[in-house]
Amino acid sequence: MIVNKPHGGFLINRVDTNYKIDEKNIMVQLDTTALSDLELIATGAYSPLTGFMDKKNYQSVVQKMRLDNKLPWSIPITLPVDQDKAGLINLGSTVNLVHENVIYGVMTVQEKFVPDKKEEAKQVYQTTYSSHPGVKKLYERPDINLGGPITLIKFPQKENFQEYYLEPKQTRESFQRLGWKTIVGFQTRNPVHRAHEYIQKSALETVDGLLLHPLVGETKKGDIPSELRMECYQTLLENYYPKNRVFLSVFPAAMRYAGPREAIFHALVRKNYGCTHFIVGRDHAGVGDYYGTYDAQKIFRHFSEEEIGIEILCFENSFYCLKCESMGTAKTCPHDKTDHISLSGTKVRAMLREGKIPPKQFSRPEVAKKLSEGMSKILVETGQ
Ligand code: ADX
Repeated sequence: MIVNKPHGGFLINRVDTNYKIDEKNIMVQLDTTALSDLELIATGAYSPLTGFMDKKNYQSVVQKMRLDNKLPWSIPITLPVDQDKAGLINLGSTVNLVHENVIYGVMTVQEKFVPDKKEEAKQVYQTTYSSHPGVKKLYERPDINLGGPITLIKFPQKENFQEYYLEPKQTRESFQRLGWKTIVGFQTRNPVHRAHEYIQKSALETVDGLLLHPLVGETKKGDIPSELRMECYQTLLENYYPKNRVFLSVFPAAMRYAGPREAIFHALVRKNYGCTHFIVGRDHAGVGDYYGTYDAQKIFRHFSEEEIGIEILCFENSFYCLKCESMGTAKTCPHDKTDHISLSGTKVRAMLREGKIPPKQFSRPEVAKKLSEGMSKILVETGQ
């Protein structure tokens, strides 16, 4: 299956930077997640969405992992406001979408509805406990959702690595320029380690190019900041990848930590960015012990390949084997567990916090150096 069509058939474009703002419209405050969602809807990364979800779509996504028109979609994209604000807004009116006193967009409010947050938590995150960072965020957001189409009138300011922010139409143009027909997308929110490199390169053996697409939107406390992660990705690419086979760009969405549900979302969005393949490894988008190691791979069985429209490349838990002296998985290495060094973002973070440099079986030395220097700086700056 090599499909290169956006989800729903075409890329949505709801950007109008010449839009004449009416300052008299009611101002609706966006949190960081809603601001990033606004931009991602407008640029077509969330195609076929044209706005924040109305009740029909919201309920259908929560219950069935599908939009009302039956297309697969697994994460609710919502704009919550408090009761007082909702009471001021008339249906059919246009509101200004504001973040930190800047108007970034407008929305025609077609609907106001009260989401069932417990049900959303249960279905989307598989837990109603607020110890889960995604559920905590859901509960903290205001209680009424506004549904309706949006227009982005100003792009949020990018503070760092501006040149890596590319819209779906731009990544698609880049792949065409490079002559790539098959492109594998890689989602990550962690500093790059050798298991990442191993599964990326295994995939790269069979496709034309790799879109290394780190998520740089809001992440939970304790995750490594995106600036430092970007330095690590750049260092790895400079030292260990052929230049003409990898494309580094960023995905400015917020992390939901919804595991399996988020894996579907991540794949569909990367299809919009022009990928034909998408990597799902162990515990994709997971946190704590909320999901089974391979649940994020199994969930795709609920859909036909055609409906998803991007080929999912599943990888088993990858480790460094001391006997093989290389990376591998249970599929390729016959040795005992005691010979294996298991790698995960969580472990890297813990080592760095203790001031330890991850060993070379874990991280490439150049990357480990960047990481430990960056982390010491952060720990000093934050007084930890
Ligand atoms: S994620 O939250 O963005 O999924 P992370 O950056 O750790 O977290 O993972 C990026 C991708 O690499 C995911 O598809 C994940 O499943 C995969 N992955 C991470 N570590 C391993 C590993 N040791 N073995 C196999 N796949 C892995």
